[in-house]
Amino acid sequence: MGKYIIAGNWKMNKLPSETYDFVKEVAKVTEGAKCEVVCCAPTVCLAEAVRAAKETHVKIGAENLHFEDKGAFTGEVSADMLLDLGVDYVIIGHSERRQYFAETDETVNLKTKKALEKGLIPIVCVGESLEEREAGITMDLIAIQTKKAFAGISEEDAKKVVVAYEPIWAIGTGKTATADQAQEVCKGIRDILADLYSKKAAKEITIQYGGSMNDANAAELLSKKDIDGGLIGGASLVADKFAVIVKAAK
Ligand code: 13P
Repeated sequence: MGKYIIAGNWKMNKLPSETYDFVKEVAKVTEGAKCEVVCCAPTVCLAEAVRAAKETHVKIGAENLHFEDKGAFTGEVSADMLLDLGVDYVIIGHSERRQYFAETDETVNLKTKKALEKGLIPIVCVGESLEEREAGITMDLIAIQTKKAFAGISEEDAKKVVVAYEPIWAIGTGKTATADQAQEVCKGIRDILADLYSKKAAKEITIQYGGSMNDANAAELLSKKDIDGGLIGGASLVADKFAVIVKAAK
């Protein structure tokens, strides 16, 4: 299906002073990877991460951006700032940002459009809570999040977007969705994208799974037809574990 991408999401972990050596280590242990390898790092670590990734296969991503070009937005980071550093990817709409930082489907859409306009690759996160899953409305919720995220985006641009399906109940809990549960939703997302654009475009879009993906369960998850990679939290903080996941993505 889409190009395989394994991306680490460090979240609020790792110090700027640890970043250079860690990215170098990731590059070393994932050498010869058959997929794209990305480290998404905190804003203050990005400059060191980019410096370490230079002349390696590793790409660097940010964990957030603002949808305006510039201005009075204290504490925010713009697409131009990320590009100026040499960042390639940016995570948008992670459930932690939706939950703790008032991110909405509307801001996710604005940020996705800004990233595409500027040439950053957006990793757009969607996912249901445990209550929503138990109420049987997972796919309704995912459909709304996906359609709103892609609103006003052309087919040409849509093909550049990475979608990460991250069930909130599986994040940082050690409770992974089963490979069949993850496949079912990832296929559902691809069907929604086929409806919005075309079957051809939907096939080209990378759809990742995220939520307690680790060295032990990655191979099974990644063997599923509609799972084109992973967005990895905890296991991306340990280079050897991350490398096992990267190797599972063929
Ligand atoms: P964990 O892999 O720690 O569950 O985190 C997943 C995640 O939120 C990645 O964005």
